[in-house]
Amino acid sequence: MHTIEQMLAYNREWAARIRDEEPDFFERTAAGQNPELLWIGCSDSRVGPDKMIGLPMGSIFVHRNIANVFATNDLNCLAVLEYAIDELKIPNIVVCGHYGCGGVAAALSHSGVQPIDLWIDQVRFVYQRHQRELDALEPEARARRLAELNVEAQVHNLCRNTIVREAWKRGQPVNIIGVIYDIHDGLLKPLGIEFRSLADWERIHVGRQG
Ligand code: CO
Repeated sequence: MHTIEQMLAYNREWAARIRDEEPDFFERTAAGQNPELLWIGCSDSRVGPDKMIGLPMGSIFVHRNIANVFATNDLNCLAVLEYAIDELKIPNIVVCGHYGCGGVAAALSHSGVQPIDLWIDQVRFVYQRHQRELDALEPEARARRLAELNVEAQVHNLCRNTIVREAWKRGQPVNIIGVIYDIHDGLLKPLGIEFRSLADWERIHVGRQG
């Protein structure tokens, strides 16, 4: 276990090293951010995007919460999305779920009234919508599949959102894709869920629940 003092000592070394390697780095990044990706992922300590996709600091605008939910009634989610699309004009949004997600496991195992239970209810609703398919699976496969279906549901929540729809209507590029991260091999797997326009989404979505 590291102490806070060790972390601060590391930070001083890191900042000095960056200044050596790239003297104008902090001046340049302080001038403003121009990220190319909005990442919506799980808070799980093993699934941070910075290392796994190789983009430099300043490239990823991040929103993480338990079980990578895009909650349409959550002010935090909405503020992040609004800033990402309306101010930063970020063209790519990744919703990343992961296998071995504790939030997904909790959605399958119990319910309650504590804050975490209420948050996880949003994943439990996804389970209920797909209960027949999921209940036919063995427990581990069920959790993996629910993690995937949850990503799909959150992508649809984004596509349903006014901020995204208005951007699409005015021709602003917004590409939304769902992926899943496998903590066992470090690989990100696209789930075949990707939308680039309102027409794109409506073609898939009309007549069904996300
Ligand atoms: Co998780």
